[in-house]
Amino acid sequence: MSGSIPTSRVANLVGEIPAPAFSGLATRLASVIADGLLPLDQRLPSERDLATALGLSRTTVTRAYGMLREAGYAAARQGSGTWTRVPGGPARGHDRALLPQPDRASTMDLSCAAPAAVPGLASAYAAAAAALPAYLTGHGYFPLGLPELREAIADRYRRRGLPTSSDQVLVTSGAIAAIAAAAQALLGPGDRVLVESPVYPNAVTSLRRAGARVVAVPVDPDGWDLDAMEASLRQAAPRAAYLIPDYQNPTGLLLNDDQRDRLGAALARARTVAIVDESHADLHLEQLPVPAPMAAHSSSAITVGGSSKAFWGGLRVGWLRVPHGRQQLFTRARLGLDLGAPILEQLVLTELLTGPDGDAHQQRARLRAQRDALAGALAERLPDWRFRVPAGGLSLWCELPRPVAAALAVECERRGLVITPGSVFAPEGGLASFVRLPYTRPEADLLAAVDVLHTAWTALDGRHDVADPVRILIA
Ligand SMILES: Cc1ncc(COP(=O)(O)O)c(C=O)c1O
Repeated sequence: MSGSIPTSRVANLVGEIPAPAFSGLATRLASVIADGLLPLDQRLPSERDLATALGLSRTTVTRAYGMLREAGYAAARQGSGTWTRVPGGPARGHDRALLPQPDRASTMDLSCAAPAAVPGLASAYAAAAAALPAYLTGHGYFPLGLPELREAIADRYRRRGLPTSSDQVLVTSGAIAAIAAAAQALLGPGDRVLVESPVYPNAVTSLRRAGARVVAVPVDPDGWDLDAMEASLRQAAPRAAYLIPDYQNPTGLLLNDDQRDRLGAALARARTVAIVDESHADLHLEQLPVPAPMAAHSSSAITVGGSSKAFWGGLRVGWLRVPHGRQQLFTRARLGLDLGAPILEQLVLTELLTGPDGDAHQQRARLRAQRDALAGALAERLPDWRFRVPAGGLSLWCELPRPVAAALAVECERRGLVITPGSVFAPEGGLASFVRLPYTRPEADLLAAVDVLHTAWTALDGRHDVADPVRILIA
């Protein structure tokens, strides 16, 4: 994708220019490109236009562009101006372990429901690096997490209406490590755990690894079946229930306040502890009232949070919020898994949470546009497929007219598109009519993906399903 960036946008983003103007301008431009505020491979304004817009001389802008090129943040193209880039070019976006055909460079990966970094992340890293020296005289182990990050997280719960003190927060290496710690703390061999189906599969692996026996309760594309959940809680009296009430992965569903109340009461009757995964809780894409956190409806609940979806998966920082009196148990469980999350990334997350875009507004705006582009293209090109446009989260959960999701995934793979069939999210098998389509890539990629989906679907032409493709799923 390539185009040019309006001069007024560049001038706005650059803002105040530190003296001397030529190097100040180069530094500001490098910073906004590194932060993802200006897209890559786009033509910068002509030197004359930018000079006029910023009230600088043309020579100053020419020198600034020269410095920018030397630093690797721009490249000149013969006869067509100066283009944005990052030093070394963009790195490969995903690990080879995730691709069915690792050597195929052109593969588009729609198997990972995780967005690109939120704009401003490079600056947050720079600020964190500046704050790091204060920690270097100590040993660097913070098994509970940096105090300032724990307080920033506690504050977010308070602002969501859930009284929380920082000593209830335990910082982990991602939400998945928080789930593993919770499983270790709460579960032993043979204990039953209620899970939704479909569900995020890596969480189920963590629960099973702790020895738990999984009891799955179906979640329909239209919502939770609370009668079935109440019956399961009554009959199985599970020790724990792993729940994703906020933009559930993969369905994108949101449990409303009344449903939370009812489920909270059923959990209390069964003496079941909820492990509430709020990984997607910040990803509201509509202006609708936001329900209170599930822990406000279930006082024994353990809440899992994460930064991967609102900010960036590469941070690998998540957390647990535990009820008063249970901190020791969870700290001990955590120490059997790892000894703390990296300090630099904790500082980065503190910067992000306490900064001007602490609610990930920019990430949400981007996701909203991408969601609408994907939903629109699918409705037009594949009108037989059924899906609800979710009010938040990262994916469309699509029901095909026939149970051929695995065959569709194989056909797509042949054409360079990786998608995840519904069976991957089915803890007890099934869901062969569903595919999960994340809207986490730029709109142009999503439209290209719908072209491939359409061709692959047409090529299937009445054929039956095949064995599930073997996949590693991350997000
Ligand atoms: C529901 C859910 N929980 C946990 C995770 C893992 O998150 P993290 O990257 O913070 O470990 C994911 C990732 O997709 C998820 O969807």
